[in-house]
Amino acid sequence: MSSPRILLFDSGMGGLTVARAVARQLPEAHLIYSADNAGFPYGAWKEKPLVERIRNVIGKLIDRAKPDVVVVACNTASTIAIGDLRSTFSVPFVGTVPAIKPAAAMTKSGIIGVLATPGTVNREYTHSLIHTYAYHCKVFLHGAPRLAEIAEQKLRGHAVDMAELADEVAPVFRKRDGGKTDVVVLGCTHYPLLIDEIRQVAPWEVNFIDPSGAIARRVADVVEETAHKGPDTKVPVHGTVLLTAARSESSETLAAYASMGFAKHEIVDLPV
Ligand code: DGL
Repeated sequence: MSSPRILLFDSGMGGLTVARAVARQLPEAHLIYSADNAGFPYGAWKEKPLVERIRNVIGKLIDRAKPDVVVVACNTASTIAIGDLRSTFSVPFVGTVPAIKPAAAMTKSGIIGVLATPGTVNREYTHSLIHTYAYHCKVFLHGAPRLAEIAEQKLRGHAVDMAELADEVAPVFRKRDGGKTDVVVLGCTHYPLLIDEIRQVAPWEVNFIDPSGAIARRVADVVEETAHKGPDTKVPVHGTVLLTAARSESSETLAAYASMGFAKHEIVDLPV
């Protein structure tokens, strides 16, 4: 059987944390990374135009990359558009949503923090995960305005402002009735890029949930069930990053992608 072609999609570099886990889980797979960096950050977008944009951009990317599986390695996109994408395109999709179910199973204090983008914390989808799986817990949701951007800057080689970082994460560390937050969900794929720094500014120790390993296992299951198209010389090769904005041809950005295994880049024209 030929190697599967897997297209990973995010608004920016966060999905690289998922790509890293998928590469570990499926070393033989051809990974093509894509970022709608012209639309980054997705966190502040209104829902309707964002769904339309994601549908249009992913349509263009599927035409270009001809994947066997698409991984929407972005909570902000998955929580709003995964149903729409599945009904629009025939290729199988794996999404990324905040790991509220495992957090509810893990917490001892019953107090959970969810760090995500402002978009993800407002989604109906996120609230229904809480009602279904964490109804017995106290859940502190925080839409961090700048955390994804701070993660991108770190990957580009810039120093992290630790005081700013501390302010971004502080709202999920809470005390209630003698207990305190003991599990924090990293509900945006960018945040694992900052895990060392987040641990340093955390006011006390907690378990952080990075769902990338679980997503990679789900991708492996879907790949197993999917027929692979086989090699095609006209489509992007393993290690290519498809970008929607030419501005990301900055050498720092390209070096950041290369450091995570995506050394070849291509600009994909935005659909109109
Ligand atoms: N990496 C994305 C997520 O998982 C979103 C970052 C952004 O565009 O704000 O939610």
